Amino acid sequence: MALGGFCRVGPVLSHLILSAVISNIAPRVGGVAHMPMKEHEAGERERCVTGIEAIDHILNGGIPRGNTVLISGSVGTGKTSICIEFLIRGALSNENSLYLSVTEPTDKLLKNVIPFDFFDDRLMKQGKLQFVDLPKIYAELGIDKEDMDTESTRLLVDSIAGQVEEQKIRRLVLDSVTSVCYRIKDQERIRDFLLRLGTVLSAKGCTSLLVSEIRSSEEGYSRWGVEEALADGVVVTGNLERRGDLLRTLQIVKMRGTTHSRAKYVLDLTTSGVLLVPLLKGGSVTGGG
Ligand SMILES: Nc1ncnc2c1ncn2[C@@H]1O[C@H](COP(=O)(O)OP(=O)(O)OP(=O)(O)O)[C@@H](O)[C@H]1O
Ligand SMILES: [Mg+2]
Repeated sequence: MALGGFCRVGPVLSHLILSAVISNIAPRVGGVAHMPMKEHEAGERERCVTGIEAIDHILNGGIPRGNTVLISGSVGTGKTSICIEFLIRGALSNENSLYLSVTEPTDKLLKNVIPFDFFDDRLMKQGKLQFVDLPKIYAELGIDKEDMDTESTRLLVDSIAGQVEEQKIRRLVLDSVTSVCYRIKDQERIRDFLLRLGTVLSAKGCTSLLVSEIRSSEEGYSRWGVEEALADGVVVTGNLERRGDLLRTLQIVKMRGTTHSRAKYVLDLTTSGVLLVPLLKGGSVTGGG
C-alpha cells in the first residue's frame, strides 16, 4: 500500500516555538573554529552538509551523502534535538526532510521540542519538513500486531522507500529505531530490516539518522548490537557529571567515507542550535575557538 496517507502536522510548531519561553540557556560558546574544514579532494564522497556547524567541522565537511547514522545515547542526552535541527537545517537548504516518530506522537513532540530560532513554519506548509507518526503507518499497512514478521518488515521498508521516492526526501530521521526493533524482536529479522532500509535510503541519496536508545550502564551503542554494526556512522550522546553539574557530551565513534575527530565534546542545546565545546583532558571545560 502506498503511503499517500502520511499525515503532515500543521503549523503548530511555529506557534509553540513562538510561545515557548526558554530560560537558563548557556552562553553561546561558538563552534569548533580551531578545526579547519578540509578541502574535499577529488574522488571524495559527496557530503550532506548537516548545517550543524560544529558537527560539519568534526566530520570535515558533513555526513557522506546517503549514510545511515546511529544517534545513540541514554535518556535526555539530546538525541531528538540533534535530529530535529538536522531536519530543519536541511529543509532550509531545500532538502526535503522527514521525521518518523515512533516513541511519542508528533503533536506531543512538537510541543516539547526546543524553540529553535532558525525554524520557519513555512517549511512545514511547503512540505519540506514533514512529521509522521509511524504507528499510523503500521495501521495503514495492517502490520500493527505486536510482532513483525519478515513480510511485515519488508512492507514497512518498501513503504518508507516509496515515501522517500515520492516526496524526494533527502534527509530522514527514525526516532527511534530501537522501538521498531522491539517489535521485530528476532536478531536475524532486525538485520534484514536494517540492511534493506540502509540500502534503499542510500540508493536514493537520502542521508538518515536512526535514534538508538541505550542505558548509560549499557556496553556498546545499541540494544541488539546489529544496529551499530550495520550503520555507516555512530554518534554517541551521553552524560558526564562534573563539579555537581550533569553535562551532555557528544562523540563521533565512526563515520564511513570520511576522516573525523573522535574526541569527546560537551554538547549544549540552545535555541540557536546544537553547540559543541571540546572536553579537554584533565577535566577542564573551555570555550571553543
Ligand atoms: N522546549 C525546550 N526548551 C529548552 N530546552 C529544552 C526544551 N525541550 C527540551 N529541552 C532540553 O532538551 C533535553 C532533552 O533533549 P532531547 O529530547 O533532545 O533528548 P533525547 O535524548 O531525545 O531524550 P529522550 O531519551 O527522552 O528521547 C531536555 O532535558 C531539556 O534540557
Ligand atoms: Mg528523544
